[in-house]
Amino acid sequence: MEPEIIPAILVKRREDLVERISRVKGLVSSVHIDVMDNEFVPNKTVGPEDFSNLPAGVTYEFHWMVKNPEDWIARTKGKHLHVVHIEAVEDWAAIKAACQKSGGKLGIAISPATPLTKLEPVMNDVSRILVMSVTPGFDGQKYIQQVEGRISELKRRYPKIEIEVDGGISPATAGRARAAGADKLAAASAIYSQPDARKAIEEIRKAAGKQ
Ligand code: DX5
Ligand code: ZN
Repeated sequence: MEPEIIPAILVKRREDLVERISRVKGLVSSVHIDVMDNEFVPNKTVGPEDFSNLPAGVTYEFHWMVKNPEDWIARTKGKHLHVVHIEAVEDWAAIKAACQKSGGKLGIAISPATPLTKLEPVMNDVSRILVMSVTPGFDGQKYIQQVEGRISELKRRYPKIEIEVDGGISPATAGRARAAGADKLAAASAIYSQPDARKAIEEIRKAAGKQ
């Protein structure tokens, strides 16, 4: 099966968020929204105050690079996928409760330096693992090839869980991530730095299929 390509959006203003969503609407089924608080990572983006009435026709996954993600999820209602960082988890029960109350599902993200064993306590509650192939904080960084061993290991340990890879995905790296076991590939600069989003997405998809 072909991997799903998921446009990632890292912006500071709602109007840029809406503009980037509209550039890929109709081309993909979901969009990945990066959210940063300037605490968990040294960067700040759009936040829950910007997420009401987002365009219909795509599903949204929120990649929460924030401390206390439960507070942010509680303010983001709807059938979304909420991906929180294992490094930011202090009270897992509170995160679960916030997600349930807001009507969404849970995923877990893991940064390149964090041991995979940290994921064990939450695995029963998540439908997706987001394997970071860059250190979270910025788009346009270089893909860390060493995470491929982690992708395969997670696929082996949790065959039923969807694996999404995020960071430095382009036509040059998509095939490698796919071969390692990625089901979904998030990409920001490889799509949004191109004049034609449709073509950019197609090129990543093709490269991922070739392996
Ligand atoms: C990094 C973000 C990524 C990033 C991807 O902190 O979580 O989603 O926007 O950007 P590219 O695809 O340019 O590496
Ligand atoms: Zn992301």
